[in-house]
Amino acid sequence: MSKKFKRTTVTAALPYANGPLHIGHIAGAYLPSDIYVRYLRLKGEDVIYVCGSDEHGVAIQIGARKEGVTPRAFVDKYHELMKQTFRSFGISFDIYSRTSKPIHYQTAQDFFTNIYRKGILREETSEQYFDEQEGIFLADRYIVGTCPVCGYERAYGDQCEKCGSSLSPKQLLNPRSAVSGKAPVLRPTRHWYFPLDEFESWLREWLLKGHAHDWKTNVYGQCKSWIEQGLQARSITRDMDWGVPVPLPDAEGKVLYVWFDAPIGYISATRELKGDDWEKYWKDPETRLIHFIGKDNIVFHCIIFPAMLKAEGSFILPDNVPANEFLNLEGDKISTSRNHAVWLHEYLNDFPGRRDELRYVLTSIAPETKDADFTWKDYQQRVNSELVGILGNFVNRVLVLTGKYFNHAIPALGHAGAISVRLENTWQDINTELNRSIAAMLAALDEFRFREAQFQMMNIARLGNKWLADTEPWKRHAENEAESAFILNRALCITATLAVACEPFLPDTAAKIREQLNAGKWLEAKAADFWKSGELVVPEQGTSVQQKPQLLFLPVPDEDIEKQLAKLRKKDTAMQQNNHVSIKPAKEQVTIDDFLKLDIRVGKVLTAERVEKSNKLLKLLVDTGLDQRIILSGIAQHFAPEEMVGKTVTLVVNLAPRKMMGIESQGMILTAEGPDGKLYLLRPDGEAGPGAMIS
Ligand code: MF3
Ligand code: ZN
Repeated sequence: MSKKFKRTTVTAALPYANGPLHIGHIAGAYLPSDIYVRYLRLKGEDVIYVCGSDEHGVAIQIGARKEGVTPRAFVDKYHELMKQTFRSFGISFDIYSRTSKPIHYQTAQDFFTNIYRKGILREETSEQYFDEQEGIFLADRYIVGTCPVCGYERAYGDQCEKCGSSLSPKQLLNPRSAVSGKAPVLRPTRHWYFPLDEFESWLREWLLKGHAHDWKTNVYGQCKSWIEQGLQARSITRDMDWGVPVPLPDAEGKVLYVWFDAPIGYISATRELKGDDWEKYWKDPETRLIHFIGKDNIVFHCIIFPAMLKAEGSFILPDNVPANEFLNLEGDKISTSRNHAVWLHEYLNDFPGRRDELRYVLTSIAPETKDADFTWKDYQQRVNSELVGILGNFVNRVLVLTGKYFNHAIPALGHAGAISVRLENTWQDINTELNRSIAAMLAALDEFRFREAQFQMMNIARLGNKWLADTEPWKRHAENEAESAFILNRALCITATLAVACEPFLPDTAAKIREQLNAGKWLEAKAADFWKSGELVVPEQGTSVQQKPQLLFLPVPDEDIEKQLAKLRKKDTAMQQNNHVSIKPAKEQVTIDDFLKLDIRVGKVLTAERVEKSNKLLKLLVDTGLDQRIILSGIAQHFAPEEMVGKTVTLVVNLAPRKMMGIESQGMILTAEGPDGKLYLLRPDGEAGPGAMIS
């Protein structure tokens, strides 16, 4: 595969700068891309690895509103936090840029202008939802409503997060503004559309035919069903004041749609990184472009962005998009709003020096073909039995034995005659297995199967343990030093091979093993052969290893796991208390007869006025169907008197009359309290008029 190409451009999805990073982000796009890029670098390939913050769009605007700050202040804060967290975790981007930089504005606007000049875009005025209270158009996540596909009530205007359907605002049932909660009105507005429909036959050719075999089935399947459902022109501009301005005269108040500008961010970041030399990473057909993303980004990277690149005409297209499925946490969806997450910066704090442990576990359970579940118990189990028990234990035993028997110097292999045929044969078997694992690891890395690749890497350590167990140098040393030298020389060869092989997955561990081996230039030279042709790394005999090797990994104690679980539980109960803050305890049970004693009916408000000296009460004259009567209602802070006149209400008509502020109230209007304390009237949602009975 790599022969055809001179270089590789690797992108990792630009995360929205709207909150800290959690393990779901890492498992989805960043860890797999980091492993892959480290692998390519080790092979000596020309590769760039670009990422940055996605700083536009509704997610940012809503976040800034919630925090009561400007979008600029909002993204500044999160960009820094994310950049810092990526660095602390050791994700090896060549650049972590951001889409609010001038170079990105320029790049995105040029891109737009190029396709605009080619006459590709359509300009259209259409009716869009508008929030009259806030004075803004409601696109994408600004509008919520019921999903027409699955009935989920909090679907967004661009996507239902429950069933994954891609939506447009007008498809939502019962649409509401995400900002004010109000029902929106339709208003005309002018926008530019990208004619995705015109790219259908090209997409069928390039994607459905061209990538049927080399793209992952989860990715290919989603693309296929998207294309089969029919493609439509998509608006690529929005009415907003935060974003990349549309570079046309006459486009005041219009910005590029975030999903138009964000992927161009990969190109801007490359320009920033490479200066004048950037073009070959995006325009040379001998460059391979790989996008690492999570599954919610598939259509954008596999269909829309490629169509944009194709339309522009001078860019290469993605060669592969190895998207991952989702990672859950303790059996439940990771949720930022419920704070059900393991935040990366918190992990780094709580587990100092344990970056590789998290990398290891996340790769072991990587959601490559289906959703996966992270649990703290499983984390502990994998660290303790695999990293400590298999890898750490092997390396430590080899170093300790080398110290004990050979005064820390790497022993010579010895000449053939000194070693028994049986021992030679045992090595041949292990050697065959080692070569098989290494080949399998390299193949899996090439195919983005990192879980399998890491498993094969660990197999090298498993085979190392087997080699020691089968040959028992501690029993042999006293009577046959030549044989124990042979055994330990081979064991050190497996150790050196591990130091090299584990580097893409466990870079800190790789550095530690090298240090313990005192590995100098000899290892670097042989590492290149390992990555090119899978050869075992043969250590230089005579050089000495460290005298007091530290353990590579320490077991994770139960307390640490308990603490993390308690933290999650605490978050969960805190959230519950928050959500239920206005929920009063249940009342005691009543019988149906108790309930039927109440006479509840529909009524209509005829007149309404304030009650003197009360800021709570409205005095209403209500037509109950039975009569017209005075009712006092504590809604004065929620409804103006004029607003109530003519309104249908529901009321209890057989309550014993009650005097308040000197006026007798002959019933009670029913209301419900919203989360913000606002009262809403309960009213029939059809044509029931005064006198209709509620049952
Ligand atoms: N910010 C998007 C998300 O988190 C991903 C953008 S990827 C890019 O889902 F290609 F647009 F950059
Ligand atoms: Zn849905």
